[in-house]
Amino acid sequence: MRNLDRQSFLRGLLGDEQPPAHLARAVIEERLRNAILDGRLPAGIALRQQELATLFGVSRMPVREALRQLEAQSLLRVETHKGAVVASLINEDAMDAYALRILLESEALRQSIPLLDEDDLALARRCVEQLEVETDYSEMGRLNRIFHMALYAKAHNKRLMILVEQGLSEEERFLRFNLSAMGFHKLPQKDHWDLFELAKDNMVEQTVQALGHHLNRAMEAITRYLGSRPSAEPARSSEQKKDDG
Ligand code: NI
Repeated sequence: MRNLDRQSFLRGLLGDEQPPAHLARAVIEERLRNAILDGRLPAGIALRQQELATLFGVSRMPVREALRQLEAQSLLRVETHKGAVVASLINEDAMDAYALRILLESEALRQSIPLLDEDDLALARRCVEQLEVETDYSEMGRLNRIFHMALYAKAHNKRLMILVEQGLSEEERFLRFNLSAMGFHKLPQKDHWDLFELAKDNMVEQTVQALGHHLNRAMEAITRYLGSRPSAEPARSSEQKKDDG
């Protein structure tokens, strides 16, 4: 996309009112977060510090701080040569994302379960116990990720585990911001207890099956929820992807 088009695109999206200096970081962070979470800022688009600073009429410092916060929330990732880039969100490709996760995480379970030790299992158990009572959404997302990772702790393929962790982080981010809108105040823990017990008993293929069940249910809940939201503008987002991806 040409620079002028980019400027007007970002202005249309984020507004260009200058925030009061002491609120600049918070306001910029909030506007970017909303635009990322509801899909107006598509995955793959680069966010440039100078461009945003000009748009909001502020120095680069609050922009840099805002981008750092969003990166910590996995909404942005930093790429060489591109800088901060909007990370992919679970959206219309939720089915693909979950189908892939089932493949990857099944393999991780097969590698890991026979080698799990007491510490791995104790960590997994603590996470589920905590999830039974936790009501803070970001904490629920974090505990879910740590629980699943504990069951994969002994998987030996490091590249596999990088992909597994990406998938879990993507889900964590999605849950953190969407669980309340999805109508969940607590996450049912039966699936997690089943996974825990089966893994503890070294029942590899049964655990793999239970995981498929668990992830399929999550995918169904997410696609139902996404289908019930007012639809975004697909034409613009595909155009964006072409120009910025
Ligand atoms: Ni889970």
